[in-house]
Formats: sequence, structure tokens, C-alpha cells
Amino acid sequence: MNAATDAVTDALRDLHSRFAGIDDGELADYIPQLALVDPEAFGLALISMDGHRYGAGDAGVPFTIQSVSKPFVYALALSVLGIDEVSRWVNAEPSGEAFNAISLELGTGRPDNPMVNAGAILTTALIPDTPGAPRFGRILDCLSRFAGRMLDVDEQVYFSEVVAGDRNRALAYLIRSTGPLPVDPVAAVETYFRQCSVRVTAMDLAAMAATLANGGVNPLTGDTVVTEPVAVRVLAVMATCGMYDASGDWLLRVGLPAKSGVSGGLIAAGPARFGLASYSPLLDPTGTSVRGHRAIGALSERLGLHLM
Ligand code: DON
Repeated sequence: MNAATDAVTDALRDLHSRFAGIDDGELADYIPQLALVDPEAFGLALISMDGHRYGAGDAGVPFTIQSVSKPFVYALALSVLGIDEVSRWVNAEPSGEAFNAISLELGTGRPDNPMVNAGAILTTALIPDTPGAPRFGRILDCLSRFAGRMLDVDEQVYFSEVVAGDRNRALAYLIRSTGPLPVDPVAAVETYFRQCSVRVTAMDLAAMAATLANGGVNPLTGDTVVTEPVAVRVLAVMATCGMYDASGDWLLRVGLPAKSGVSGGLIAAGPARFGLASYSPLLDPTGTSVRGHRAIGALSERLGLHLM
């Protein structure tokens, strides 16, 4: 180990022990299965551009990806359809609203951005669905390539999402009623629920974030998952919209493109430097992991990671 490696390892371990005692926040319970997890679970992971993996605590504990899937499915849509075509369907402006708000552009009905549920459901619907390459198969394959290993679906969480999914179904019908939705709302939402139910660990999420930070090339496998312009656009949208109505505050304080999810996953990316992830399921009112937010914020300060 060299000095830099030591510094990262020490920082992750220190921050893990510093924030493990914090028990502020609540488990998400609007998807019943998410309320059954261990509230104490807490893991941190970082992967550098040379593929070095660092972890502390529960970095290998599985949980469902939830909204952290959104930037990666957006990346897939951009790769398949191109930036101009995707922009016709979904905008890239911060909504300043909660993740499940009706964030649709007045007049056109176009979702404000692909990080809120409305925009994510539409983005999922844009992925082509053919007998040889079904929509969800493409999504799972893409998420797996970002992670560098084959991922799977937590079927119990998926069924729980279906049972609790009225608001997302309502959003899909609303998008169709006011503007564009290329497929049947039920089909769009079911694929979106499956995508949210993909099982990952904090180390997987660090690999996914590191792939975006590395211009689309997975630093563990060498696989070019997306092109550099796609990776750059996704990071830019994460910076402006990834933390919903807390995106401005996050960028001011932490200074990294990021994405949160209601199961307690959180990613942040340092372009050309690292991918970082945390897992702790106790959430603040914006749906962000309390320990994750504090640990990544403190890591940014300690290692001077703020981009500005
Ligand atoms: O659609 C939902 O409500 C969940 N499957 C995902 C929401 C989510 O992760 C919001 N992020 N903090």
C-alpha cells in the first residue's frame, strides 16, 4: 500500500466508525418490503480509476438499487437513441421538487429531468423492446456492465413495489394524458419497478459510479459501457438533479455529482478520479440516507474532493 491508498482506507474506516452511531432518519415504508431491512446496516465503498477497491463496514451487503438506477438507465437511453432524441422526450432541468412530484413541463408535458420518477419512467419507456432484446433484459445487462458483474432482481421487493405503486402508475397515466409516452403506462411502470428492484451492494454502486467517472469505461473490467459524451452528460444531470430538491445544497456542500435512492444507497462520482457509494437505509425527508449524506460530505471535506 502507498500513502494515498492508506489515506483512503483510513478515511473510510474513520468515517464509518464516526457515523455508525447516528440513528437519525426513518426506513422507507411506502414500499412495505423496504421497511424490513436492518436499520443498522452501514457500508462505504470507493473504487479508483486504476480499479483499486476500498471498503468499510457493510460494503458487501445486498439491497435494492431503487432511484440510483436512474442515471444508468438514462445513460442506456442516450446510448441507444442519442442525446437529441432523448432530449425531445425528457428535459434536463432541475425540478426543485420531491422525487415523486408531478414534475412535468407546462404545455408539453415533458418530464423536467430523468432523475425524478416521472422522467425516469419515461426514460425506461424509451428503451427499445424487441423479442430478441426485451426492454428489461437490456436494462439489467446495462446495469450489470456498469457494476462489472451479473446482477439480479429481488422479486419480493419487486412485488412490493407493484402493490404499492399507485402513485407511479398515476404519473405514467398523467404523462400519457398531457404529452408523450411511447408505450403503455402499465408496461412502462412495471419495467421501472423491476429496474428499481435490482439487487446491488455498495461496492457494486461504487463500480457503477466509477464507470461514469472514468468516461464510461468500467475500471474493474475494462468494458466500455457507454461513450465519454454520454458519461459526461449523465454526470452533469446528476450534479444538477440527482438529489432532487436538495441538489443545490448538496452541490454547495459536497461538490460532487450524486444520486440517492430510498433503499438507502447513495453514489457520488469524482470525474477522472473515483466512484464512491454508501449504504445505510435510515432516510431524511428528501429520501436520502442520513449516514450516507454525512459520511460522503465528510469524506469530500477530508480528502478535498469538492469539484469547485
Ligand atoms: O419509484 C419509487 O418510488 C421507488 N421505486 C424509487 C424512489 C427512490 O428511490 C427515490 N430516491 N430517493
